[in-house]
Amino acid sequence: MDISVSKRQKKFCDSYESEVLYGGAAGGGKSYGQIIDAFLYAMKYPASKQIIFRRTLPELEKSIIRTSLMLYPQQVYSYRKADHTGTFVNGSLIDFAYCDSEQDVFRYQSAEYDVIRFDELTHFTESMYLYLLSRCRGVNGYPKSVKSSTNPGGIGHSWVKKRFIDCCLPDKVMYLDGMTRVFIPAKITDNGFLMKSDPMYIKRLEALGKKDRMALLDGCWDIAEGRFFDEFDRNIHVMTPFEIPDDWRKYICLDYGLDMLAAYKIAVDGFCNAFVTAEIYEGKDNGGKGLIVSQAALRLKELCSGDKIRAVFAPPDLWNRQKDSGKSIAGLFAENGINLTRVSAGRISGWMAMKEWLHVYSDECGMPAARLRIFDCCSNLIRCISMLQCDVQNPSDCAVVPHELTHAPDAIRYFISGQPKPAQPLPPEYRYGFTFEKRLSPFDSEKQFKII
Ligand SMILES: Nc1ncnc2c1ncn2[C@@H]1O[C@H](COP(=O)(O)OP(=O)(O)O)[C@@H](O)[C@H]1O
Ligand SMILES: [Mg+2]
Repeated sequence: MDISVSKRQKKFCDSYESEVLYGGAAGGGKSYGQIIDAFLYAMKYPASKQIIFRRTLPELEKSIIRTSLMLYPQQVYSYRKADHTGTFVNGSLIDFAYCDSEQDVFRYQSAEYDVIRFDELTHFTESMYLYLLSRCRGVNGYPKSVKSSTNPGGIGHSWVKKRFIDCCLPDKVMYLDGMTRVFIPAKITDNGFLMKSDPMYIKRLEALGKKDRMALLDGCWDIAEGRFFDEFDRNIHVMTPFEIPDDWRKYICLDYGLDMLAAYKIAVDGFCNAFVTAEIYEGKDNGGKGLIVSQAALRLKELCSGDKIRAVFAPPDLWNRQKDSGKSIAGLFAENGINLTRVSAGRISGWMAMKEWLHVYSDECGMPAARLRIFDCCSNLIRCISMLQCDVQNPSDCAVVPHELTHAPDAIRYFISGQPKPAQPLPPEYRYGFTFEKRLSPFDSEKQFKII
């Protein structure tokens, strides 16, 4: 087979973590990636066994089976329609399967595969996935993996998001009890083949309604109804860390209780853009023991990591005096070397201000921009901002349940209430040099790899 693959498809083909998800925009090249990867695996590992699932049989026949028949060379591959099995001259096989109802999983109860593949994973339920996951096993020593591809949306959106997007940084391997998991994001601009052959495809996606457009064009996972920060978009607000210039002003903000210390280090540039660069997220709500003040103060000192911190913003309730000792928590922090700055905790005005900071606008280069950005290492803040729900009684406020989701956004609200000041203005070319480095060259993934 003589076929080129995009950079992202190559990454998918090269990933053999226990679970791999290639997810994002429609037309990103995900299904093609699956089909090419299945072929390469079958040829590399003689007598290997793979299975590819779509939710229903018609979907399977019209997509994966049809494309594989088109792509796989007849000299090495033949397909038996009766049992939906493809076989290779080296003894490898690929089963093409569907799983329409929950009971369908039992058709595979005695089966054993080296690689299990799901195309359009969000069409499956979590219980189907977990059951079928257990069929990935064997003694031949070949790499074992469950490899999925999908667009956001669909009945399985929430569990897929929780399993792969909320807890994994894109392209970074996560380790869990000896198993590994990785999420490989797909963008339309990754697929140079489609961009060249059908340049109007993007226009057609742009014409969709907002929610579908976010899912299918932007590959955005934060599309659930009722989100409090519906302006939040990982593609815009989350960024790869860069080195913060020395002359930017640095702040810390926190929400503290035994249930949780959520604290953030935030750097402010000359235009009053803020970059959340590091987080501490520790406490009972997170499965920990809860930090007493002296422990929390130590963590905060680590967070400072030698930087000059202009202020440590904290909510006014930390100044309440305890009945027994007459001391306040702020007083205890001061005794441990951390002087807190008290800010207003007005919820509605605070959230409104935070929404202004997250508001997406077009900058001078026509690129989407926002005043508040978050480094991708602050995974709890990203998760909580994306999941926080509106209060059903009062849409101007957020829901306070689940309580765990509130600490991190609260801390950022205190930062904004603290009215941080900008650093000395920077020359504009410097500003865009790093901020938009990634997005200014969306076609860099056009560089393709050739697999013969
Ligand atoms: N490696 C490739 N070589 C040639 N064409 C490709 C390749 N990958 C994707 N394409 C083209 O892009 C289209 C969309 O890719 P597909 O994998 O179906 O996207 P997705 O599953 O992400 O929606 C395909 O129908 C095919 O025409
Ligand atoms: Mg597809």
